[in-house]
Amino acid sequence: MPVSLPPALELSIDLLRCPTCRTRRLRHDRGALRCSTGHTFDIGRHGYVSLLTGTRATSGDDAAMVQARDRFLSTGRYMPIRQTITGLAADAVPDQGTVVDVGCGTGYYLAGVLDQLPHARGLGLDSSVRALRSAARAHARAAVVTWDVFRSFPLADAMADVVLDVFAPRNPAEFHRVLRPTGRLIVVRPTGRHLAELHGRVPAMVTIDPAKEQRLRQALDPFFEAAVTEQVEYAASLTGLEALDLVRMTPSARHLSPAELNDDGLLPDQVTVSVLATAYRPR
Ligand SMILES: C[S@@+](CC[C@H](N)C(=O)[O-])C[C@H]1O[C@@H](n2cnc3c(N)ncnc32)[C@H](O)[C@@H]1O
Ligand SMILES: [Zn+2]
Repeated sequence: MPVSLPPALELSIDLLRCPTCRTRRLRHDRGALRCSTGHTFDIGRHGYVSLLTGTRATSGDDAAMVQARDRFLSTGRYMPIRQTITGLAADAVPDQGTVVDVGCGTGYYLAGVLDQLPHARGLGLDSSVRALRSAARAHARAAVVTWDVFRSFPLADAMADVVLDVFAPRNPAEFHRVLRPTGRLIVVRPTGRHLAELHGRVPAMVTIDPAKEQRLRQALDPFFEAAVTEQVEYAASLTGLEALDLVRMTPSARHLSPAELNDDGLLPDQVTVSVLATAYRPR
């Protein structure tokens, strides 16, 4: 039986463009999205649209990482980050505005923003179908599509009031193209202190490159200027499972043996959460 159009997708279908011929709109036709020349993209039974066809994405979270992320985020330990993002977004999204979350993962932050904006619609992009299965259920007004952030987005020009990028890869030129001139890009990234206790104890955890901030500035500078930056920093106490999930939601877990992961003494029972959230205005 053909999959019906998920309500969130119906809200946002006018924003999508055919990824093959770029400019043409997509229409719903018997469980798929189709452009006028016949390029066809399936709507999965889990509710996301597969626009990334042909090539396989080179990156994206696997099932174990997504499960760990889902479990960890549902504890509320990152709620202060979500609240900060929501505050920055609320200042930039008009009634019936549009929020695009690039590398949306399980949709936790997009859902939080939409909860505060009762008439806004959301669109999440991610290369991980595992993540999008969760994201498709994250919010009634959040549509989700598979996409690779490093390719031209399958989105119309100037359609977004806010583009979110939370701990995810970035494509400044495409962020700029899809944002309205009055819109805001919100980028959230870790500082050098983020989860330092975990990095100290789990040698396989990828550490944060100190030159990262400078590289971010250089990459965004041709397209954006920073309007406001908020620092979110606090101590979070962790249960054993939460600490384990924080490791499992990163690629580092692949380099650890089950014995190492289950070693009770290895993981800290408290970590520093430290991130910067910046809202940028397009140049
Ligand atoms: C650290 S997670 C952050 C997810 C979400 N923003 C959050 O903070 O909960 C990074 C996300 O980027 C996605 N990702 C990695 N490479 C990507 C790419 N090339 N294109 C699109 N998404 C990608 C991963 O699948 C993952 O969901
Ligand atoms: Zn087409």
